[in-house]
Amino acid sequence: MASNGTSEQWRPRGKSKVAYKKWQRASIKRIEADVREQLAPKPRRLAHSISVACMCEHLACLYGVDPYLARVAGLLHDWDKVVPSDELIECARTLSIDCGVPLESMEPLLHGMVAARELPKRYPELPNEVWHAIDCHTSACRHMGDLDMVLFVADGIEPLRKASPGIQATRNMVGKAPLEDVFWNAFVGGIVYVLEGGRYLLPRTIDIYNALALERANRTRRAR
Ligand SMILES: [Fe+2]
Ligand SMILES: [Fe+2]
Repeated sequence: MASNGTSEQWRPRGKSKVAYKKWQRASIKRIEADVREQLAPKPRRLAHSISVACMCEHLACLYGVDPYLARVAGLLHDWDKVVPSDELIECARTLSIDCGVPLESMEPLLHGMVAARELPKRYPELPNEVWHAIDCHTSACRHMGDLDMVLFVADGIEPLRKASPGIQATRNMVGKAPLEDVFWNAFVGGIVYVLEGGRYLLPRTIDIYNALALERANRTRRAR
């Protein structure tokens, strides 16, 4: 995909045509134009964001989630990826973001949390669901809603992301497995990626993993 392709021109294969209302089309157009301007210094990030937006819409249609909210969450999720690290950390400090660890150690995860707190001023028309999905798209959270899972999965499997066995396995589940299972695969795959790369794993992620693993095990037991 060319980095200047618009999300109107490009969609993942198996695309779904959404009959958006006029105001939704106008809103998507405006937000996409803003994202193009914001991420212009990073064309690959821009292409990724547009690709995530399309994948969000695709997943939303498959799993009965609002495609408009999914599309705008995808467009906006990496808004702060152009902010320099020290500025982002300072911003997070000002916003009182606290995950119980030094902000410096979790810098790669901050962009979603900062955007989720700052962008509502710019887009007051968008509901909290969108900001919640953006807030937890880097680390997941204890109670993942459907839109949260759609954005998390889309971010991990959008077609511009280089395939790994884990990513491919998640891609293969789309449309065949329930959204919760597709998310779980993407979430666990993300943890494995962090561990294999010797990257920093947020302690909160371990707690989220354990809580979700227990929940899944209980559900399986009840279903027997
Ligand atoms: Fe991100
Ligand atoms: Fe992303």
